[in-house]
Amino acid sequence: MENNTQPKKQRMLSMIKPTGQFTLGNYLGALKNWAALQEDYQSVFAIADLHAITIRLEPAKLRRQTLDAFAILLAIGLDPNKCTLFIQSHVHQHAELAWILNCYSQFGEMQRMTQFKDKSKKHADNVNVGLFAYPSLMAADILLYQADLVPIGADQKQHLELARTIAQRFNGIYGDTFTMPDGYFPKVGARIMSLQNPEEKMGKSDSNENAFVRILDKPEDIMRKFKRAVTDSEAKVYFGEDKLGINNLMTIYAAVTGLSFDQIEHDFDGKGYGDFKTAVGEAVVETLRPVREKYEQLMTDKAYLESLYRQGAQNAAAFAEKTLQKVKRKVGFVAR
Ligand code: TYM
Repeated sequence: MENNTQPKKQRMLSMIKPTGQFTLGNYLGALKNWAALQEDYQSVFAIADLHAITIRLEPAKLRRQTLDAFAILLAIGLDPNKCTLFIQSHVHQHAELAWILNCYSQFGEMQRMTQFKDKSKKHADNVNVGLFAYPSLMAADILLYQADLVPIGADQKQHLELARTIAQRFNGIYGDTFTMPDGYFPKVGARIMSLQNPEEKMGKSDSNENAFVRILDKPEDIMRKFKRAVTDSEAKVYFGEDKLGINNLMTIYAAVTGLSFDQIEHDFDGKGYGDFKTAVGEAVVETLRPVREKYEQLMTDKAYLESLYRQGAQNAAAFAEKTLQKVKRKVGFVAR
């Protein structure tokens, strides 16, 4: 078949903040899908370092975590020959479009964001304007690349919906400018919970080390964290209303093995939580082992990483600039 008769690939975009070491939640909720879908979409992925500074971070730490994050994205299987991979602050169009979109976002809309409310409470001494306007920068990330699909975990759904509202509003005023993006959520694993408090999501910056598993954790640490995971006193493995801890472990196990909940219940019938926790830990260790090994190998060649993120930023900027020019023209800015 001729190339030009092939259907045009849809576009996909997603990003991750380098605010701590990536967790199993990030992996199962988002990164796993990025790697799986990159074949089928024209894909754009980035490290959201502009978003990261809404929380105060030590400069050396931010720099190290950003490079670490870049290597992890390669280690989970993103292929720079198949997708565009870059660092958000290297592509100035993001901040520029975000400003414009701020002027098409309503104060009340931003104020209603649960992440804003949660983070304002958590960092009460630093409720900065960036934290408030965070969703319009995220909308800019998505809309600059005319993304059709945004693979994310459940906690980012509200932000994606706001991006759609902003796009719709802008398109309504100026005519078709932005593609309307849809979210893509994993069937199991869209919301992985803390191993110590299964009512809260597993986060990168939890002060309790045993609450989250890092993608780069050593096998013995992963096993320890699962063995200490908070459960209930019933000692029967099934998915149930008052079994948040077990539900979370079952979700993790299902996501890494591909087994159904029914199958898991059947396999662990008559066995205790000890056996189940060991099985979950071992399955996670085996899933993450190749990622950690690839990461360690990649970190020995910083020049290679640098060449990749430079090239990635160049490719991203070329596309982003086209959208930005279109937006500027529509808004009424004088062409330079
Ligand atoms: P971030 O950095 O908090 O998380 C990155 C991705 O991981 C998902 N995730 C989870 N999924 C399941 N269970 C969990 N416990 C869990 N924790 C995190 C998140 O849903 C996310 O998909 N604002 C975004 C980054 C961003 C972005 C974008 C995303 C910036 N610009 C444009 C999509 C499109 C964030 O803070 O993700």
